[in-house]
Amino acid sequence: MVGLKDVGRLAGVSVSTVSRVLTRSSLVNDVTRERVQRAIDALGYQPNRVARRLLRKDAARGNLIGLVVPDIENPFFADIVRGVEDVARQRDYVLFLGNSDEDAQRETRYLDLMRAESVDGLILPASSDVEPVVARFVAAGIPIVCVDRRMPGLDVDTVVADNVRGAYDAVVHLLDVGHRRIGFVGGRPDLSTSRERFDGYVRALASFDVPLDEGLVRNGDSRQESGRRLARELLALRRPPTALLVGNNLMTLGALEAIHLERRRIPDDVAVIGYDDMPWALALNPPLTAVRQPGYEMGRCAAELLLRRIHEPTRPAAVVTLDPQLVVRQSCGARQPAAVSATAVSAAARLAVTAASAITLVAM
Ligand code: RIB
Repeated sequence: MVGLKDVGRLAGVSVSTVSRVLTRSSLVNDVTRERVQRAIDALGYQPNRVARRLLRKDAARGNLIGLVVPDIENPFFADIVRGVEDVARQRDYVLFLGNSDEDAQRETRYLDLMRAESVDGLILPASSDVEPVVARFVAAGIPIVCVDRRMPGLDVDTVVADNVRGAYDAVVHLLDVGHRRIGFVGGRPDLSTSRERFDGYVRALASFDVPLDEGLVRNGDSRQESGRRLARELLALRRPPTALLVGNNLMTLGALEAIHLERRRIPDDVAVIGYDDMPWALALNPPLTAVRQPGYEMGRCAAELLLRRIHEPTRPAAVVTLDPQLVVRQSCGARQPAAVSATAVSAAARLAVTAASAITLVAM
């Protein structure tokens, strides 16, 4: 590794003179500057990130963004990472990426490490609504953007998808094709995303005057195993649901497993809609109807907001809400464009959310 010492030795100057050249100090004359530059070129010297940080006038800036995801195996969070990373790379920032495995302690360890590394800012789909360590970041004036999951107690920039709308559209679709016993397999109830999806489910039932049956509702932990276990519980009921809305992609995989284990047919015995579209949804038999979240765009938007916040620390906090999209395939038995029927549209009109409904029928 070529270092400042090597450059200084070749140019015949001290390390501090090399530093001055790199920081464009006016204390260096043109002749010396050129000699140092020739040595840098000859040796191919590349200041590393730490050196660059030390060399900058504003020593607090390292062009480093911290991002902790709750589950690195979940493709939705991979989309978010991709979005953040694309923006960061374009703007000459690097990512410090952590995976908390939905574990608050592991998340705290990462956040402490990131703080010690002087990250310029942090992007977080937090492992729960209340994380004291995040509040400490805010108190220390470190810019934070919450993505996907809100942190209700904190006044910070936030990028979410409209979860009420996504679940609402999904359940209206099921009601529209004739289902009245619709089971809900939700994620962890301490997450804003789970609560909002449940809210959308309840509102859709109400808009069709279908009473909420708590016996058809289960809460899991957003992982595959809980999807399998809870779907099995619902299928084992004396009067099982005829349709399921499953709260995220991994739980949907578990629920599909349970349905196959119980030898039920989709959609004849039970219709299924998964929250989160998945790259393999089309390869399933039958192809899965799903609520697609704009994960990549959410990541990009979070990174843009963070970079703005770094440069405008006093700007009021913004909340950006992106639209999900119901992608109708075959797992609910819809043959007609039922999702945009008059019933669904009038029901949607009764929903007090402003964003336009986005429903796509995919050719089969
Ligand atoms: O699969 C990821 C989604 O479900 C996210 O929206 C996340 O909050 C989880 O609950």
